[in-house]
Amino acid sequence: MSHHKIDIYALLRILADGEFHSGESLGEILGSTRAAVWKRLQVLPEFGVTVESVKGRGYRLPGGLNLLAADKIRSRLSGEAASLLSQLQCFNEIGSTNRHLLEVVAEHGSVCLAERQTEGRGRRGRAWFSPFARNIYLSVRWHVEQGVASLEGLSLAVGVVLVEALAEIGVADLSLKWPNDLLLQGKKLGGILIEVGGDLTGECALVVGIGLNVNMPDSVDVETITQPWIDLRGAAFEVDRNVLCATLLNHLLPLLNTFPGTGFGPYVTRWMACGAYLGKDVSLSSPTRTVSGKLLGVDDRGALLLESESGVASFNGGEISLRAIQ
Ligand code: BTN
Repeated sequence: MSHHKIDIYALLRILADGEFHSGESLGEILGSTRAAVWKRLQVLPEFGVTVESVKGRGYRLPGGLNLLAADKIRSRLSGEAASLLSQLQCFNEIGSTNRHLLEVVAEHGSVCLAERQTEGRGRRGRAWFSPFARNIYLSVRWHVEQGVASLEGLSLAVGVVLVEALAEIGVADLSLKWPNDLLLQGKKLGGILIEVGGDLTGECALVVGIGLNVNMPDSVDVETITQPWIDLRGAAFEVDRNVLCATLLNHLLPLLNTFPGTGFGPYVTRWMACGAYLGKDVSLSSPTRTVSGKLLGVDDRGALLLESESGVASFNGGEISLRAIQ
């Protein structure tokens, strides 16, 4: 009998089919005992996974798990996206997919996905809640030669293609809260975090990270998320996570390929088609000041246009956050 700790991810992959598996058969496959299997299953609540146990039949995960599979994602890529992709890795668990592509993988066109992030990063130094096998945590590494100046407005354009990709698989009524929150029914469905390494004035490596709430666990510790949120399931959209990832990449990779050449110009009208709070009163806060006015839209650099008594002013910068005035 072996005394190694059972690989929890190997166990979850067997149970992912939603069928009953006896403790004995699980032990056999995993090179362990029935008792060790039982013991290992006790950690599943930590993964937001509920296991059902029925005497005489064994264990099962009701509803199964929709796990990521690199081959399923690849098989759904368009010819263009496939030609732009260099490698695609799916991890069971990782600190942060963004950090992995910034610090570990150096290849242009790499895609990193994970079932779970233990140190998922959000904007403005926040954490990104990243439970197992539920949502999408996707990052792409992309090299540009012209420096970050050529990337003005990129995060907004990423938002635009996210909306368009989701529309393609039937998810309607999304909106974009400047600079890059993806909203559904006025609540946050996803976010974009772009990080840059290398020479900011010349050759640099861009990592575009997307977090999308697909199917949050029932027991979300509300303390861990600071904004009102929603997931696709909560809005009655059933999607396959592999199809979703492929569709996102089909839109995102061509965007990254062309953006340094086109800039944000071609995306202005597309952004305006789904911008949140257009024509409404909003307030903008930076660490040093708050201004309010009517949100007119964005300009061809992705800056926010705000109309106040003193005229129309444009705003830019990652540290600004926007709020609707009720
Ligand atoms: C936001 O705060 O709105 C941005 C959230 C970005 C989260 C994604 S999940 C994949 C990638 N890896 C990370 O650590 N963060 C981004």
